[in-house]
Amino acid sequence: MNPFQETTERLRRVSQAHVLVGAENLEAPALSRFLNQINSLPLEELAGMLTQTSSQKSRDLSLLSPPNVIRQDAASSMEFRAVGEQMIRRGQVAAFTVAGGQGTRLGWRGPKGTYPATVVTGKPLFRVFAEQILASERRYSVRIPWFIMTSPQNDADTRAFFADNNYFGRQKQEHVFIPQGIVPCTDADGNILLSGAGEIATNPDGHGGAIRALHSSGALQEMSARGITQLSYFQVDNPLVRVIDPIFLGAHVGAPGSSGEMSSKCVSKRNAAEKVGVLCNIPTEAGSRTTVIEYSDLPTAMAHQRDAAGELAFGAANIAVHVISVEFAMRLAASNDIQLPWHRAHKKVPCLDATGVLTHPEKPNAYKFECFIFDALPLARCSITLQTSRMEEFAPIKNAEGEDSPASSHRIQSDRNGAWLESVGVIIPRRADGSVDAKIEIGPLAALEANDLRNRSTIGSIRRGEEFVI
Ligand code: UD1
Repeated sequence: MNPFQETTERLRRVSQAHVLVGAENLEAPALSRFLNQINSLPLEELAGMLTQTSSQKSRDLSLLSPPNVIRQDAASSMEFRAVGEQMIRRGQVAAFTVAGGQGTRLGWRGPKGTYPATVVTGKPLFRVFAEQILASERRYSVRIPWFIMTSPQNDADTRAFFADNNYFGRQKQEHVFIPQGIVPCTDADGNILLSGAGEIATNPDGHGGAIRALHSSGALQEMSARGITQLSYFQVDNPLVRVIDPIFLGAHVGAPGSSGEMSSKCVSKRNAAEKVGVLCNIPTEAGSRTTVIEYSDLPTAMAHQRDAAGELAFGAANIAVHVISVEFAMRLAASNDIQLPWHRAHKKVPCLDATGVLTHPEKPNAYKFECFIFDALPLARCSITLQTSRMEEFAPIKNAEGEDSPASSHRIQSDRNGAWLESVGVIIPRRADGSVDAKIEIGPLAALEANDLRNRSTIGSIRRGEEFVI
């Protein structure tokens, strides 16, 4: 059989033969690209993905309970920090960014990590993270490798951005780019959609594809050979993330009850309606386990439920910051758990109609399938959640305007930076609502935390509306 016949056979076996209708009219190179694309897709999994995701909606969430959250105090923070710092110094920690998303909500052309994120100088997100890693490398006299998950759609642009920026002053070989898997989009009946002649409509398989991508690229083996035991996992959209946080790393391995497999950070939800996932406990056959429930799945009554202290009972917002042990990732990779549960979203996907004409739908017409990394949490024996401060660590850029936009992130960044300077005696102008009335940027190479500014009290004061950078 030639490749065309083989692919036709494969498609027929999974009832998707329509995909190749008219393909015989393609020029040879286009046909060959098309066959390669088809054969790189997990076609045999599609039927299972559809069945699994249709039953998901009926999950019983009434058994959820609020998570056990660890709040930081001075003594435990000091203890965790000592443990975490030792791990960093020994070269046991790597940074891991998931940056394969399509970033459609922000409307930025190009990988989201290239978005200018900081308040005054507009440093791109990737630079903010790179400088944090560089500052940690200097502080702890160690090399910290950085694994970056891309998607086939943005991999080349991401690599080019790092090369053009000379890896932001870090060693080139300490960067590992790993393209994640892709999956086809389907119509409501599960038929694969075409985005053009000779091209299937696809999307990246979600950040839950990370374990598979780390495994199949050989990255897990590489980490293990190098003595790396922990991955500091974070999303590409949050310029305030603490990329290498000794306290969190120390809590992950040392907090009472932690199995040291996968831990999370949370902040208090701003209000019941905030569009964030929440950390909860869920009973499983193996006992109570930690999980994340997306805001869209959390019943409204539960989202508004208050505890005895008047706080939101399900108010532990997932900020998508985790520590994942390499051993845990390897255990998942070696089992069926490498495939985390699928979720599906009903979206508008431009595609060819039955007559072969490209249509831009006005209503959702397609299913996109994705897996989520937080579905690995219940697979950990005992996972801890560390509470942190929203102003210190969470100012994501997701939308062009409104909540979680560049403007809202800038305000939080200035508030955090103003508070850091204030803590060393600098006088900061504030508005009536308490927010900082100036644009203040502090580069990671100048300070990774407030305490690093202790020699800066000579700054004196910042004027109202001033743009200030260190
Ligand atoms: C996510 C979390 C939500 C959390 C919030 C905090 C999910 C489903 N929800 O929401 O619980 O409260 O962040 O900010 O994740 N990505 C990939 N590959 C993909 C898809 C996404 O690498 O295939 C990366 C993106 O580049 C991004 C991150 O994952 O860094 C988040 O993706 P996104 O889909 O935007 O999640 P949110 O809806 O923001």
